Amino acid sequence: MLSEKLVAALNDQLNAEYYSSYLYLAMSAHCEAEGFPGMGHWLRKQSEEELGHAMKFYRFILDRGARVELKSVEAPPNRWQSPLALFENVLEHERKVTQRIWNLIDLSGAEKDPATRVFLHWFVDEQVEEEAQAALIVQRLRLVGDSINGLFIIDRELSTR
Ligand code: FEO
Repeated sequence: MLSEKLVAALNDQLNAEYYSSYLYLAMSAHCEAEGFPGMGHWLRKQSEEELGHAMKFYRFILDRGARVELKSVEAPPNRWQSPLALFENVLEHERKVTQRIWNLIDLSGAEKDPATRVFLHWFVDEQVEEEAQAALIVQRLRLVGDSINGLFIIDRELSTR
């Protein structure tokens, strides 16, 4: 049986995944409004993936016989200075999520719950991939700087996700 601490922490992470989805949806809308539909597409896909992450926590909590407790989702920002600032925000956000997952793994150890630890391993791998993807986009945006042509090339590439 899940400990009370783990139930609370897993429900918090379920909420955090919804926040990630909401954040990326806000970013997607911003990019579309600013004339970067490819970035908007990439971010909308990312928003959908985050809902998938939330449902993994939802399913796991229920499968372990505990209660899912849905909470309100914080409002994300709605404006960013530039595509670079926005994707730097993505990378910074994913690094925070990674730390949250690692903290959950520490807690599953402290609570002597190997089933939770094994469940979280999928997220450890996923975070490596998500950080790498965001870091690559940030790197390329830094390389093109203020070049409109460069930004449009990146936008077109992100539309193929
Ligand atoms: Fe749910 Fe982007 O990690």
